[in-house]
Amino acid sequence: MGNIKLDYSKTLSFIREDDIFSFQTEIESHIKALYNKTGKGNDFLGWVNLPSSISFENIKEIEKSAAFFKNNCEIVVVIGIGGSYLGAKAVINALSDNFAQLKSNNNPLVIFAGQNISEDYLAELRSVLNNKNWGIIVISKSGTTTEPAIAFRILKSDIEKKYGKQNAVKRIVAVTDAKKGALKTLADNEGYKTFIIPDDVGGRFSVLTPVGLLPIAIAGFDIAQLVKGACDIQKMTNPDIPFKENPSALYAATRNALLHQGKGIEIMANYNPKLHYFAEWWKQLYGESEGKEGKGIFPASVDFTSDLHSMGQYIQDGPRNLFETVVSITSPDSRIVIEADTDNLDGLNYLAGKRINDVNKMAELGTAFAHVDGGVPNIRIEIPELNEYYLGQLIYFYEFACGISGYILGVNPFNQPGVEAYKKNMFALLEKPGYEKETKKIKEKL
Ligand code: PA5
Repeated sequence: MGNIKLDYSKTLSFIREDDIFSFQTEIESHIKALYNKTGKGNDFLGWVNLPSSISFENIKEIEKSAAFFKNNCEIVVVIGIGGSYLGAKAVINALSDNFAQLKSNNNPLVIFAGQNISEDYLAELRSVLNNKNWGIIVISKSGTTTEPAIAFRILKSDIEKKYGKQNAVKRIVAVTDAKKGALKTLADNEGYKTFIIPDDVGGRFSVLTPVGLLPIAIAGFDIAQLVKGACDIQKMTNPDIPFKENPSALYAATRNALLHQGKGIEIMANYNPKLHYFAEWWKQLYGESEGKEGKGIFPASVDFTSDLHSMGQYIQDGPRNLFETVVSITSPDSRIVIEADTDNLDGLNYLAGKRINDVNKMAELGTAFAHVDGGVPNIRIEIPELNEYYLGQLIYFYEFACGISGYILGVNPFNQPGVEAYKKNMFALLEKPGYEKETKKIKEKL
């Protein structure tokens, strides 16, 4: 099995290799701080050794629970938001058939809820569930997040009505904190099977805990391979690995060298729409980890070539404060060859005999040259195939680079104090008990 490859050569007309290597000493100390737990946010570093600490028994227990849902449900609704949603969504979308919802499948369809407060979304979901056999995985580390709590209140009542309270209990699994939070209390009172999110693993670093692994297993994917991929990159990024051989260190150094040159926006680009939600997961990981104290690289994403016909203009010609990180997959799963056509009315015979993937790859290369010529540095990350193993590699690669990057910026990458601001206002506007002072103050603004 190969490994992910990092290529920063198309950044070198903007920064020197020395600029990248100038981070070496600093990064080596950050890696030690991540391992020795001596840096900022050191109570949330459980993710660093997480892949290698997942046992065969852990995987079996998750697979056993997944088997119940596979045997008894056509649909499993996974309720969660942020880190309690995006990791599972990213992996399931990356590994699923693009048209899974239209094809028959042996595994339950995994659908997400509680990741928004749209009344239409929930109403339309309820109408689908009405005629199906279904179950719920409710995920919240804090156990107090409003969006999933609302969705769970509504869907819990529906599932109890459909199956009766006693049978509904078997169809609900909670993933939450070991001790605290309303969800923990609720799960204990109702007798739900519960998986624990370790205290020292924050939401956006939790995809390799039951938060991600249980929904991914229910969708029919091989979680042992996902963990193995992460383990293999954990081995390639530990403090004993030389800086130049550590892909996460090189990526963190390159993006920070680019930031020093005024490139404050990083765009993750893919050439396979299955990676759309992987970019959403990455945006949360980096946005919530780095964007604080007035610092951070703004994470954005595009799906190419679709977005070359929308955002492409801006990337080519807009403000020159961008760089691009392309996640490229060497070989697709399928094979379609373009055939010659006698009339050639569409003028495409010059492509006859080529695979669609050959065209896609030339679009990628051509775009990289065009963007570099237009002032957008290009980092390229390549995986051989889109499967569980390489997704596991990508996940740990990005997590570890995120820890390093946050420390380079000097922030605590493992908290998210800024997320509270909207909640405070929303609670004040909704007149939540305990927010009386805030309610009075915000109402003066109305
Ligand atoms: O990364 C984080 O910690 C956050 O994005 C959380 O995952 C998100 O706010 C959901 O929190 P919880 O799992 O407590 O409901």
